[in-house]
Amino acid sequence: MSFPDRFLDELTVKTDMIALVSNYTQPVRRGTRWFARCPFHSEKTPSFTVTPETGLFYCFGCQAGGGPIQFVMDAENLEFSDAVRFLAARLGLAVPEEEEDRGVRRERLLEINRAAARWFYGVLGGSDGGKCAEYMRSRGISPKFARRFGLGCAPDRWDGLAAELGKTYAADELFAAGLLSRGKNGSLYDAFRDRLMFPIFDLRNTVVGFSGRALGSDAQAKYKNSAESPVYLKRSVLYGAHLARKSQKGFWILCEGNIDVLMLHQAGYDNAVATCGTALTDAQARLIGRHVPEAVIAYDADAAGLKATGRGSALLENAGVKVRVLRLRGAKDPDEFIRTYGSGAFDSLIADSQNHTEYRLSLIEGQHPPDSDAEKQAFLRDATAVLADLPTEGERALYAARVARTLGISDRAILKDVEVAAGKKRKAALKTEQSQAIRPRRTPAAGTSRVEETALAILIRLPELETTLTEDDFSTPETKLLFQARRESPLPDEAMRLYARLSAEYGELAELSEQALRDCEARLKDAPAADDMMRKFERYKDTKTPKETRG
Ligand code: UTP
Ligand code: MN
Repeated sequence: MSFPDRFLDELTVKTDMIALVSNYTQPVRRGTRWFARCPFHSEKTPSFTVTPETGLFYCFGCQAGGGPIQFVMDAENLEFSDAVRFLAARLGLAVPEEEEDRGVRRERLLEINRAAARWFYGVLGGSDGGKCAEYMRSRGISPKFARRFGLGCAPDRWDGLAAELGKTYAADELFAAGLLSRGKNGSLYDAFRDRLMFPIFDLRNTVVGFSGRALGSDAQAKYKNSAESPVYLKRSVLYGAHLARKSQKGFWILCEGNIDVLMLHQAGYDNAVATCGTALTDAQARLIGRHVPEAVIAYDADAAGLKATGRGSALLENAGVKVRVLRLRGAKDPDEFIRTYGSGAFDSLIADSQNHTEYRLSLIEGQHPPDSDAEKQAFLRDATAVLADLPTEGERALYAARVARTLGISDRAILKDVEVAAGKKRKAALKTEQSQAIRPRRTPAAGTSRVEETALAILIRLPELETTLTEDDFSTPETKLLFQARRESPLPDEAMRLYARLSAEYGELAELSEQALRDCEARLKDAPAADDMMRKFERYKDTKTPKETRG
């Protein structure tokens, strides 16, 4: 039994780690990370780090680490489910019922998903598909693009798929694939009914799950998505990525909904992808980074979209992706915009999209419209903090001039404040660097080899890589569990500590490549002994990791 993944994701995303941690210690910001004295062991210099964007904490001193749930377990000495309740109460969220576990083999699940996609597709073209086809017309989805995305129809029946696929597969297997639901009396029936079906593909064009759009605006939830399964890893899948990876445009457009993706592709943007209702994850940001150097965020023009944009930008920049933010005007999402103004107008939105600094400044301007002296002061204070984050004097001067123009004051005054703030940040960073305590450990945890850790770090960074390694190639319970569960979202909390440590220690190591994984495989399959590659890693980390901690 476990909590629904969507709920655990929600808890993790909604928890403000800095606020949570501040109840136990005093974190101080250094770049993208925060440092504090560890609440779990006694120390004089801070070796406890928190990265708010990822929600992870890790202590270089005592190796405690993980996400918000683990933090509460450690800090309040609670069991997993009580820690979940603790966080939910703090956020004012109701705790849903725990779910039944479902276990069916990966290959079998993929086969069932493929069969289901074929069946939904067939229904759309048949006599039961009329209502779906009409709905597609009303939303402006062309038959050509419906085919390209493999759209289908779940008929308005309780036993459509159940009866048809039930001829080939056991009801329990269809249930495990999330295609059947179980009623109170134990009976199984079609999980997707009366919906336009969007198959979700992974990068190898394999159907891993479905998203179904209700056709009417009646009682049914607007979207129903397949549950997380061993083949549908929500943390690393992006809707449309299997097509976007072939785009020649050199950047991807990141939006919220599957229909946005469809309409954008139809308008000529074969580079649109979507997270489909959940917050962008680190794995998705890295997936984007492996394909393109730049992304344009085109989230909905509402409060939730704004917040997700800030968080998404941080994750993308962290993954080495240059970010621009598109400001939708006169429509709530890209689909509505294109339907109202046409694709030519969307071209100019792309052209006008701002970089992250411009975007942050325009947000501040929205919060503090500079029409009174008090608002001007608030604007100036927040803008100074944004500008002080910029890495070069030139950039700081450029944006200081912009802020000065908006406020109608001289840019020299602003620039002075910005340089003072930037200087303070530099000094703080230097101090952190000099503090021995936050140097990460350079030896693996007891019982684990560096090869095992490297292999895990690679498999986490590149979740789509296949590997010949099995659980038996790992030597501790923690590494075995993380290996097994590495593609799950959310990760089991017992694996979060190791995950947090690997993220903190391996950081942005460029050497985490497919080739390095193959080397690790070879080494773990043969009796391991120190060899050149591993020594290279050690040397690289020695020079790299402390710098990274500086933030
Ligand atoms: P929105 O609710 O913003 O979509 O959800 P929308 O633009 O109003 O919906 P359409 O255009 O009428 O269809 C954005 C995305 O979030 C996911 C879906 O992937 C959707 O496309 N979502 C939304 C869910 O997963 N579940 C929901 O209940 C709602
Ligand atoms: Mn929409």
